[in-house]
Amino acid sequence: MNTVVSGIRSTGHLHLGNYFGALKNFVRIQDIYNCFFFIADLHSLTTHPHPDDFHKSVKIILAEYIAAGLDPEKATIFIQSDVPQVSELYVLLNMLSYKGELERTTSFKDKVRLAKAQARNKPVEEISYDDNNDEGININAGLLTYPTLMAADILIHRADFVPVGKDQEQHLEFARVLARRFNNMYGEEVFPEPRALDFGTGLIKVPGLDGSGKMGKSEGNGIYLYDDEATITKKVKKALTDSGPTEPNAPMPEYIKNLFTLMSLVSDPSTVDYFMEKYNTCTIRYGDMKKQLAEDICKVTLPIKERIDDVYNDDAYLHKVVESGREKARESAAKTLELARKAVGFKVF
Ligand code: TRP
Repeated sequence: MNTVVSGIRSTGHLHLGNYFGALKNFVRIQDIYNCFFFIADLHSLTTHPHPDDFHKSVKIILAEYIAAGLDPEKATIFIQSDVPQVSELYVLLNMLSYKGELERTTSFKDKVRLAKAQARNKPVEEISYDDNNDEGININAGLLTYPTLMAADILIHRADFVPVGKDQEQHLEFARVLARRFNNMYGEEVFPEPRALDFGTGLIKVPGLDGSGKMGKSEGNGIYLYDDEATITKKVKKALTDSGPTEPNAPMPEYIKNLFTLMSLVSDPSTVDYFMEKYNTCTIRYGDMKKQLAEDICKVTLPIKERIDDVYNDDAYLHKVVESGREKARESAAKTLELARKAVGFKVF
């Protein structure tokens, strides 16, 4: 059975973008693959979260993943920092990660510019990545070697596949480079080259409710699995629309397209067709469409929300999940690390 690894950063509640972009597919593939899903808490340390909030956010993600259908009996669900073998492999891989490669990583460049912008209180657009003026700014080595740690996450379980969105493609490519480099350097096939897992649905882009771009945590345009009915209805009601098309089959503005995209994710196809027909004949009433959309979103999320509360409040259960995940993940990781240590030449005695 092929192995799949995916990490989730613990940065607050999950939204519909996380659900349709990743989670829903994770639930499906846990029956088909040997899955390792973990909460990437080491990665989160790059931004120095307060210890109290930090623990809580790990618990939230854990509860929400399980509530949405990840099953600890099927997949290995664990916390990254519970598996010290990851950190040891990270050290080995750091020796094979070249400064130039790391500095060319798009996500690193973006984060550097963001950090400088915040420190100087200026818009990101005005900041250059390589002006070398970053004295006292938190651009730490962990941020630079983020892709190396991610490669360690993947290679430690000798993963065949990693489900990735567009933003993680470059990181996965680097994991492949490191696998190859390690195998070549030490002359052994310790690591398979992990490949991107395609769900066969194309890349789903879940739009936000503000008429532009995708749903995201920082954009404040999201609907969360944790939102209640009143909140969801209110958010959908506030989504940008206009007074409607004035001629048949008019081109659709981006913000209206977004509503249809959301609808196609949560509603019956006949419902989408119904409103599309109304649009094309200039008889659409966006108030009605939004009411339907909010109802259909609720049908998907409210059952999950109910389970989130149950799971989150069941410390004994969560404790068991984390413990069994830790054990299974450590066992798999220890095997791989043994191979890597041997290949490198440790263990003379
Ligand atoms: N970098 C990923 C993200 O930001 C999280 C992540 C960490 C990850 N380690 C991973 C994803 C290993 C897949 C495999 O979303």
